[in-house]
Amino acid sequence: MAPRKIIIDTDPGQDDAVAILLALASPEEVDVLGVTAVAGNVPLELTAKNARIVCELAGHTQIPVYAGCDRPLNRPLVTAEHVHGKTGLDGPVLPDPEMPLAEGHAVDFIIETLRAHDPGTVTLCPLGPLTNIATAFQKAPDIVDRVQEIVLMGGAYFEVGNITPAAEFNIYVDPEAADIVFKSGAHIVVMPLDVTHDALVTPHRNDAFRALDSKVGHAVAEMTDFFERFDKEKYGSEGAPLHDPCVTAYLIRPELFSGRHINVEIETQSELTLGMTVADWWRVTDRAPNAMFMGDVDAQGFFDLLTERLARL
Ligand code: BDR
Ligand code: CA
Repeated sequence: MAPRKIIIDTDPGQDDAVAILLALASPEEVDVLGVTAVAGNVPLELTAKNARIVCELAGHTQIPVYAGCDRPLNRPLVTAEHVHGKTGLDGPVLPDPEMPLAEGHAVDFIIETLRAHDPGTVTLCPLGPLTNIATAFQKAPDIVDRVQEIVLMGGAYFEVGNITPAAEFNIYVDPEAADIVFKSGAHIVVMPLDVTHDALVTPHRNDAFRALDSKVGHAVAEMTDFFERFDKEKYGSEGAPLHDPCVTAYLIRPELFSGRHINVEIETQSELTLGMTVADWWRVTDRAPNAMFMGDVDAQGFFDLLTERLARL
């Protein structure tokens, strides 16, 4: 089968970085047409820089990296330096990127790419707030039907929230954008906290990254060393959850994940539950299903895949 063409929309972020590395290490299954940066974990200037640092770390300087929206549709930006550090990519010492940003706006790249390829052949992989994707859909509604699938990290049902008691970070930062995307009619696959909180980098798994004894292996292990302190302190968990790599792992080995095709709505009004993904997991409403909402991951299979693929870089 031909590799799946994808655009990675991202706000790196250590876990975003690992998601990008996994995709770039898997050319048989995934063809990365471009990387689009959005403001999220840290401001846009840093996410656009970090995306290039990661492409260079992987040795893939040919990938075009575009800068996109620098703030959510209707709200001030909320960032997560308390999780990812000041640079967004704290942990390893990595050189500043030499590759320039691609010319043009990420939103226009998304629109033009979807228009240039046959309908149903390009998949969008959002790993941060959905601002770029929603802006593209608003600006060019004709592209929605051309999307093969949107496979995104965001939301939660059983785990409820991480940035507030009710909301997951990516959805909370730009709930209006998420609302547009979930109502768009595009095919959506969601990797919520319910799945990603099971994809934990235990000390043993992080040793396996380190044992690759490559630039990438050491960088990933050091990113995880930094990133894990937050979740360990907060949840008492064994290690850091690799949220965003669940998206790229799904493109390579979908059978590692299972879930339900259900209705998911985004709370955009309530101060208390802003950004909540109201997922009808138990199918108690007659609202039409609009997303494949994952609930389980074969965590060891996921880490075996990740380790095997990172070894290629
Ligand atoms: C999500 O928020 C970010 O901090 C991570 O990169 C991930 O995309 C998890 O809630
Ligand atoms: Ca992210």
